[in-house]
Formats: sequence, C-alpha cells, structure tokens
Amino acid sequence: MTYAELANKGILTQPVYEPGKPIDQVARELGLDPAGIIKLASNENPLGPSPLAVAAATRALQEAQLYPDGGYFRLRDRLARQWALDREQFIIGDGSNEIIELLGHAFLAPGVECVMPQASFVVYKLVTLMFGAKPVEVPLAPGMRQDLRALAAAVTPATRLVFLASPANPTGVANEPEEILAFARALPPHVILVFDEAYAEYLDNPPDLRPLMAEGRKIIALRTFSKIYGLAALRVGYGYGPKELIAIVQRARQPFNVSAVAAAAAVAALDDEAFVARCRAENRVGLRQLEAGFARLGLEFVPGHGNFVLVKVGDGVAVFDALQRRGVITRPVKGYGLPEWLRVSVGTPEQNERLLASLASVLGRA
Ligand SMILES: Cc1ncc(COP(=O)(O)O)c(C=O)c1O
Repeated sequence: MTYAELANKGILTQPVYEPGKPIDQVARELGLDPAGIIKLASNENPLGPSPLAVAAATRALQEAQLYPDGGYFRLRDRLARQWALDREQFIIGDGSNEIIELLGHAFLAPGVECVMPQASFVVYKLVTLMFGAKPVEVPLAPGMRQDLRALAAAVTPATRLVFLASPANPTGVANEPEEILAFARALPPHVILVFDEAYAEYLDNPPDLRPLMAEGRKIIALRTFSKIYGLAALRVGYGYGPKELIAIVQRARQPFNVSAVAAAAAVAALDDEAFVARCRAENRVGLRQLEAGFARLGLEFVPGHGNFVLVKVGDGVAVFDALQRRGVITRPVKGYGLPEWLRVSVGTPEQNERLLASLASVLGRA
C-alpha cells in the first residue's frame, strides 16, 4: 500500500498555498546579494515591528522555559479593553490564518458550502476544501468590486460560512461600512459571517460590527498583528464575536497555539498607538506614490485600501520574474484568476521608487 492510498480523502488534491519567497531564497536562486533585494510581496510593514512590541518580546524571551498562559488572559483582557467587549468574546490564533482553520474544524464538513467573492484571500478556499466542503465563488463586479447582493444571492440552505474581507486581498478593494452592515444583517440564521479585517487599521472609517454581534447576529471578525503592527514573523492574530460562537471555536484550538513571546508582543503592540498612527499615515503616502507612479507609466491599477496595490502589467508572471531578477520581489496573482496583474505591497518611499523605476525599465517605458 502506498502512502497516497493510505491518505485521507481529498488531501492529495488539496491545493498548496504559495507564499511570497523570502529574500534569502531569491538571493540564493538568482545569485544576487540579499542586501540589494527588496520584498514588496507579502503586505508586510516596511517600518518594521512596533518597537514597544520588540521590547516586550525580548523580555518575554527571558522566561522561555515556561509554557505560555494557554488562556492568553492578558492579551484577551487587553483586547477586551480595546474593543469594550468581554474577554470571552476573543480567541487568539497562530496568525488569523489559524482561526480560519479553527472555523473549519468547528463548522465545515462534506455537504456544506462556503460563499466568498472571487479572488478572495486563498486561505478561505484552502480551508473549505480541506474539510471537504464546497467553495462557492461569486464573480466580482466591474472595478473588482465585491458585489454583496450577489454574495447574498449565492447563500443556500447548505451555506455555513460566508467569507468577506474589506479591504480585500489581493484586490485591495473595500466595501462601504453601511453596505457591509446591511449585508450582515440580512444573512439567514444558519449562516456565519467571517469578516476578515486584516487590513482594517489602514481605513479611516472601518465598519463596526460589534452592535450586530450584540444583537445576536452570527458574525466573527478576524484581525491580525502581521500587518500594521509589523509582527508577521511572530504569528499572532485574533477573532472576536458573540461568546457562544467563540466558545465553540475555542474547542478546536490547541492549548498553547501562540507563543508567550508573540502574545507579549501583541499586548505591547496594542499600546503602541503612536507607531500605528505613523504606519497608517506613511502607508497612505506610499499608496499615493505607487498609484501616481503607475498612472505616469500609463498602467491601470485598482486603488488600494490596504497596504498594497494591484496593477495591470500584461503578463504578470513574466513581469514578476523580470522584476525579481532586478532584485524587486512582488506577487503575481495568476492563481487568483488575474494573470495580467501584479500585487505590490507599499514599501518605504525609496523602495516604492525603486519598484517604479524597475517596472518602467522592465516594461520599456523608462
Ligand atoms: C485578507 C487576509 N486575511 C488574513 C491574513 C492572514 O494573516 P496572518 O498573518 O494573521 O495569518 C492575510 C495575510 O496576508 C490576509 O491578507
């Protein structure tokens, strides 16, 4: 008997997530100096981690012999204060990615469906398939807008989860808060809305779903410390929602799923309001810099609401390769059904300039 014959059904056809390549790997593969490479591929924070978070993580390392507090009480209490909710309304994850998987453990099985906009963050589909459920992808409207009416219309009696991110990745589009609240309110009671707020800190006016949660709507919102807080390497995110829902998802969680170092860093990052404000302001300038540069090059782009922009370059994979050979790593999005587009994360002003100059040279528009 082969391992493949022994494997669980579906695992052999399970698509594999392709992350952006780390700088060292690109340097090795292309014989480049890692110091000369910039990575604008994974929507990371170009300003680095929150300094308060680094200090807290360093302190926590001194007690690395101890298991973490598996209930993550300090972090959940800090979040409860941040959001004026109860501690029991929060679950901590090994990145918000893990919480998506925990939702799969809790709610997905063969025969159920998950509705999501086309070109959504691929992990929604990966988790849906992993649990034998069926992804239902709803076409985007012009301008890559997420059509919430069409999303609502795709809900059937078999639907269990609806995934919606705003801002969405990789398109960068955001839906209006009122539209999102109306959509959430209209979902039937057998459906849970998974509202992914990975990039919400970059918005001026993010939707607030807490009143709907309080009304008893079935909603879990997901946040991450990987983006504006600059802690992607530590892997920490959280979900919040009604207590009954969070209690069920907690049952699927391993006792020490997040390191004590990451949890300590997350608490400090929440306190570092000045850092967050600076990141938000500089990101906005970077978005405008990239968009103005794309416009100068005559390239179509989707105005970004997160910390990245989608730009139409022709053959996305070819342009990605050519940029990478010049030491600039971006993200092709062919796998999202967008073969002509590249996703470019906002970097420092110098990195953005280098990306634009490299792109001009690759496209022969210098
Ligand atoms: C929309 C969206 N959700 C979730 C995540 C996962 O973030 P984390 O690093 O917390 O797992 C990402 C990361 O890129 C994302 O773009």
